[in-house]
Amino acid sequence: MVLVEGPLNPSSGGAMGQRGERVCACFPANQNCPKVIPSTDDALTTRIVHEEDVGPCPGEKVCCFIDENFSTVQPPQGCGVQNPIPYRQPGFAEATFGEYPWMAVLLNSADDFKGAGALIAEDWVLTAAHKVYNERNLKVRLGEHDRRFPQDHSTLSHIDVPVSRTIIHPGFNNKSLANDIAVLQLQRSVNTREFPHIGIVCLPAERQLFEAENACWVTGYGKSDFDGGALQDILKEVDLPIVDSTACEIRLRRTKLGEEFILDDSFLCAGGIAGKDACTGDGGAPLVCFSERQGWTVVGLVAWGIGCAQGDVPGVYANVAQLRSFIRDNTGL
Ligand code: ARG
Repeated sequence: MVLVEGPLNPSSGGAMGQRGERVCACFPANQNCPKVIPSTDDALTTRIVHEEDVGPCPGEKVCCFIDENFSTVQPPQGCGVQNPIPYRQPGFAEATFGEYPWMAVLLNSADDFKGAGALIAEDWVLTAAHKVYNERNLKVRLGEHDRRFPQDHSTLSHIDVPVSRTIIHPGFNNKSLANDIAVLQLQRSVNTREFPHIGIVCLPAERQLFEAENACWVTGYGKSDFDGGALQDILKEVDLPIVDSTACEIRLRRTKLGEEFILDDSFLCAGGIAGKDACTGDGGAPLVCFSERQGWTVVGLVAWGIGCAQGDVPGVYANVAQLRSFIRDNTGL
């Protein structure tokens, strides 16, 4: 993910948590700790909070812990609900823990990072076909936030589920990346109600249109720069406008793709803003847009680009609404 400009998150008032330590967030002392953490799972409640372990918050702030005193919050629609959890102050362009609970990391059996995806049901992950058509023995990691901590970096660990079946779109073309979509069936269902940091993203209606007016974000662990950048440890987020397909095709024709280039309707474009884009390694990652009516909805999957984050060249995504029938026919969703 590339983001070189944009608003900086305030850096004051955050409590840092190290691996194995209790983690808290600082809140004004005159207000109650937010009750956002469901903890119906035993694993979430076994670590006891000791007052003396509390790192002091600066000024008139109190430390709010993730513990069994937090109440259970059920997502109203059952999909597309963010659940930012007090963990630590996010850095520049960093997601908050639990903010994108549908985010899935694809790993092979050696735990190598293979790409990203989105949880669309308790046993299905949506991803880009180009990330999985050549892979076997994949597993999906859910509830990940900081890849440096392989087991457990807070009271909420990530979980790994093996992929039992990979279904690639029959029209997928590994040269043009047309129809760049696949669904991964998980070996077991994940009961998302047990995990506050794991959740399902909503699916768009068939051929639903999304436009520049929608509030859309892409998240991923991809490289920070096309030339030389590195994969990211902490989940990154970038807000991007959807770009009209005709305008996108015109812009792409001005690149090395040339005047004959045709953008087929299995693609969707977003971005075209200097310094803001997905990048290498973000493939398969969801571009999500929010509406009150629908909740957070997966609109695109990172497919390709010309370099990364060059102004005027949008990133290209698999168009989930156009490819919606493939999802329905293979998963029943
Ligand atoms: N093909 C790359 C990958 O799978 C994604 C590239 C996205 N590039 C961009 N500029 N948006 O990791």
